[in-house]
Amino acid sequence: MNTSPQIRFATPEDAAGLAAFGAQAFTDTYRDISEAQEIADYVAEHFQPEVMVAVIQDRDCAVLLAWLDDQLAGYAIVKNEAPPACVTGPAPLKLWRIYLGEGFIGRGLGAALMQAVHAEARRRGARTLWLGVYDRNVRAVAFYERFGFAKVGGQEFLFGGQIYIDPVYAVPVPGEV
Ligand SMILES: CC(C)(COP(=O)(O)OP(=O)(O)OC[C@H]1O[C@@H](n2cnc3c(N)ncnc32)[C@H](O)[C@@H]1OP(=O)(O)O)[C@@H](O)C(=O)NCCC(=O)NCCS
Repeated sequence: MNTSPQIRFATPEDAAGLAAFGAQAFTDTYRDISEAQEIADYVAEHFQPEVMVAVIQDRDCAVLLAWLDDQLAGYAIVKNEAPPACVTGPAPLKLWRIYLGEGFIGRGLGAALMQAVHAEARRRGARTLWLGVYDRNVRAVAFYERFGFAKVGGQEFLFGGQIYIDPVYAVPVPGEV
């Protein structure tokens, strides 16, 4: 089996597949650390094909899809969004989502997607990447720390009618290697 993914930008034709993939990946990620109803509500709101079309067409976003042997294996979305005050680095860009399908985790695809995120950040002239992460998602936190992200503060995250304070991480965008 091929182990190096093909990574490309999503088009509106990818929206339905990405919505289904994103819903599954989100559910798999939080199944053991969040309430089932909260997950279902979030998925119903955010992982609809029409929502995905809007994100894919939003010039403030870039949606990257990773394919392995013609199968969608993961995706990442970066977004131009005003960061919380704790992000003080220059030219910030949010890493909004980075998710692999359950069967693709732990094979280096997350690293490949992160490198594509770095390239897109450089293309957009961004110099700081930032993100919010649920602190119980320890695998994701360890992944981000491997890429040099450091905790800089926290931000409110509305999930299931409850406000959580998610840690915020940031890192300078690495230069071209
Ligand atoms: C976060 C996420 C994208 C990171 O991807 P990942 O596959 O776990 O991370 P990497 O790509 O760096 O792979 C790392 C592992 O693959 C192994 N690996 C195997 N082949 C590899 C290769 N060719 N290159 C690099 N690592 C490789 C590494 O040794 C490492 O194993 P270890 O964790 O036991 O040390 C992934 O865990 C994921 O999708 N999680 C669920 C969604 C999620 O939580 N998203 C973040 C929300 S905030």
